[in-house]
Amino acid sequence: MSSFSPHFAGKVVLITGAAGGIGRAVTEILLQAGAVVCLGDVDTAGCDAILAPFLEKNRSTKHLVYALDVTASTSVHGFVKAAVFAFGRVDCAFNNAGILSSGKPLAEVDESEYDRVVGINMKGVFLCLQAEIPAMISTAGGGSIVNTTSTLGTVGDKGSVAYIASKHGVVGLTRAAAMDYAESGIRVNALAPGLTETAMTKNWLADAETKNTLLSNIPMKRQAAPAEMVDMVLFLLSDASSYVTGQVMTVDGGMTMH
Ligand SMILES: NC(=O)c1ccc[n+]([C@@H]2O[C@H](COP(=O)([O-])OP(=O)(O)OC[C@H]3O[C@@H](n4cnc5c(N)ncnc54)[C@H](O)[C@@H]3O)[C@@H](O)[C@H]2O)c1
Repeated sequence: MSSFSPHFAGKVVLITGAAGGIGRAVTEILLQAGAVVCLGDVDTAGCDAILAPFLEKNRSTKHLVYALDVTASTSVHGFVKAAVFAFGRVDCAFNNAGILSSGKPLAEVDESEYDRVVGINMKGVFLCLQAEIPAMISTAGGGSIVNTTSTLGTVGDKGSVAYIASKHGVVGLTRAAAMDYAESGIRVNALAPGLTETAMTKNWLADAETKNTLLSNIPMKRQAAPAEMVDMVLFLLSDASSYVTGQVMTVDGGMTMH
């Protein structure tokens, strides 16, 4: 449970990239809090696996699993419409789907790789915001959205040009959307995780040399567990942050403090 859990009973929450490490950690706490969760991911089997133990305990757990591709406008609009059709409203959204880029220096990156990474990480967030915001205003009179950026949304690094560009773009989308809808009861903020142990970072953390190099840049000298991202997301999605919008909240063991 989280100290923000009481805010979510009966709230309809959309989560993209729900089957992944951070998405799963947030979804599980929301389910425990009694939220109505709408899970969107290309990996629907992963979403079903998260729900299975909750449905075993309580068959009437309100939920929706959607085969979502955040790069396709029709898919994103279908996801939001399915949530409104099933539950009548959308209160919150966690736009979290993302992929890494290949690690090559800029001049060696294929245009197709750039398009794919920016398409999922940045355009995907744009499409989600476009579908979610009008639905929240019309069904709930407002709402709260969290977009997942990265520490690489505010600083540079080697060998990740498409990822870094896309995550800087998510920061821009967050601030622009927050400005456009601040008077409409919509708050939009971003989570910037540091190195977190998920499928995305599994290979790096399995290699002792890569892991040591990564940890040497983190003042706390360790990676995060996905569970350590949850409270910041729940704080931003909940009314506990009712006067917070357009902000990037960094959870990175101090990596970007200097
Ligand atoms: N793990 C880290 O160290 C770290 C650090 C900074 C930021 N992030 C960001 O956190 C978010 C979650 O990453 P994670 O670490 O949980 O990784 P993950 O790989 O475990 O999860 C990502 C999820 O996104 C889904 N996805 C991929 N393409 C999609 C698409 N086109 N449409 C819908 N879903 C799609 C995947 O199926 C997967 O379930 C990402 O945006 C990532 O960039 C992660």
